[in-house]
Amino acid sequence: MVHNFDEIVSRRGTDSKKYAMAYPAGDVIPMWLADTDFKSPQPVIDALEQRLAHGILGYPVSSERLKRAAAHWLETRFCYHASPAWVEYTPGVIAGIDFSIQALSEPGDGVILQTPAYPPFSQGIELNGRVLVPNPLVLRQGRYEIDFESFEAACRRPDTKLFILCSPQNPTGRVFSREELARMGDICLENGVVVLSDEIHSDIVFPPHRHTVFASLGEKYSANCVTFINPSKTFNIPGLRTAALIAEDPAKREAIHRQIMKVKAVGETVFGTLALCTAYESCAYYADQEVAYMAGNLALARQAFEAIPSIDLIEPEGTFLFWLDCRKTGLTQDALMKRFVETARVGVKDGADFGPDGVGFVRMTAAVPRAVLEEVLDRITKAFTEPNHQ
Ligand SMILES: Cc1ncc(COP(=O)(O)O)c(C=O)c1O
Repeated sequence: MVHNFDEIVSRRGTDSKKYAMAYPAGDVIPMWLADTDFKSPQPVIDALEQRLAHGILGYPVSSERLKRAAAHWLETRFCYHASPAWVEYTPGVIAGIDFSIQALSEPGDGVILQTPAYPPFSQGIELNGRVLVPNPLVLRQGRYEIDFESFEAACRRPDTKLFILCSPQNPTGRVFSREELARMGDICLENGVVVLSDEIHSDIVFPPHRHTVFASLGEKYSANCVTFINPSKTFNIPGLRTAALIAEDPAKREAIHRQIMKVKAVGETVFGTLALCTAYESCAYYADQEVAYMAGNLALARQAFEAIPSIDLIEPEGTFLFWLDCRKTGLTQDALMKRFVETARVGVKDGADFGPDGVGFVRMTAAVPRAVLEEVLDRITKAFTEPNHQ
C-alpha cells in the first residue's frame, strides 16, 4: 500500500487544536503543535468506519488485543520482547507518566529531566509536588550531548527518585545511542533512580540512526523502567487518546495500576483501541513511508537553512520536529517570535517554552505536505534575509 503524504487536507473548521489555537489567523501557517497534517492510514480509517456502521458504541472491554498489538509493535519494529501482560492502557503518554510519578515517588522527591524539554514534563513534576532536577543537554558543534557528570550528580542526590527520559528527544531530535542509554541506565541503577522512558517519537528516526527501546538493553534495565508509547504521532491519531505503558516489574506495574484505579482512568475508548490495534498490527508500511517522506522534508529544510546565515537547523536524528537555533539573529525572544509570526506568517513554537536553555530557539513541526513546507521555508527565508521584509 502506498500513502500519499503530498495530499493537502484542509483542517480548518474541524476543531483542530493546531489550527484553532495559538495562531487562528488564516494567513499564518501553524507549525507549532506536534501533530502531523497527514491523513491517517487507510486501514485505520476503514476499521473505524466499519465499527461505526454497527451503530452501537457501548462500553468496551479492557482490551487484550491492545496489549498484544503494543507488544507486537515493540517486537517487530525494535526487537524488544515485551509480554502483553506487562502492557497497560493509558489515555495518553503524559497521563501515564503523571500516574507513574504519583505511584513511584513521594511529594518533595526529585525528578531528573534533560533540558530543553517538552513543557508537560516539568508541569507534571511541579503539579504533583515533586522537584525538577534539570540535566541540561550540551550543544556542541550543532549536536546536543549528555553531560554525564551532571547526570550522575543529579542521580546521587538522595531525594532523586525518577528520571524522565525522552527518547528520541523532543525538541532537539536527538536519538540516543545504545551506549548513551546504557550509561544513563547504569548510573540510575547505581543510585536507585527509576527511568520513565517516553518513546512516543520512536517511529520517526532517520538512518543511519536507530531507535533503541531503553528496556531492550537487558533485564536489569527493563526491571528498572516504565516505557510509554503511543501511535498518535506516527499515524496522526492523537485525538483518540489511547496510549500504552509497559512495566516489566510487577511491583511497579501494580503501583501504577492502583494509581490509575484511584481516578478510574481505566476506560478505554472503542475508537482509540481499534485505531491503536489497527495501526500497530497493519500499518508498518505507513511508518516506513513517513520516515522516507520526512527525510525528504529534512533535505529541503537543510538546503533552505544553509542559505539563511542567522538560523541554524539543529540536524534532527529523529522526530518530525525541527529545532532552530536563531541566536545569531541577535533578536530578543519576543522580537524573534514576532519575526516568525508577524513577518514570515509562520506559527512556530516559542523555544522559551522548553525552559531557559530554549531561549534563542524556536521549534517547528515539519510533518506537513512538501508543498506546504516549501511555502513555509520560502516565507522564513524572506523574513530573515531580505531587508525589506524584516
Ligand atoms: C515527547 C512527547 N511526549 C508526549 C507527548 C504527548 O503525548 P500524549 O498525547 O499521549 O499525552 C508529546 C506530544 O507532543 C511529546 O512530544
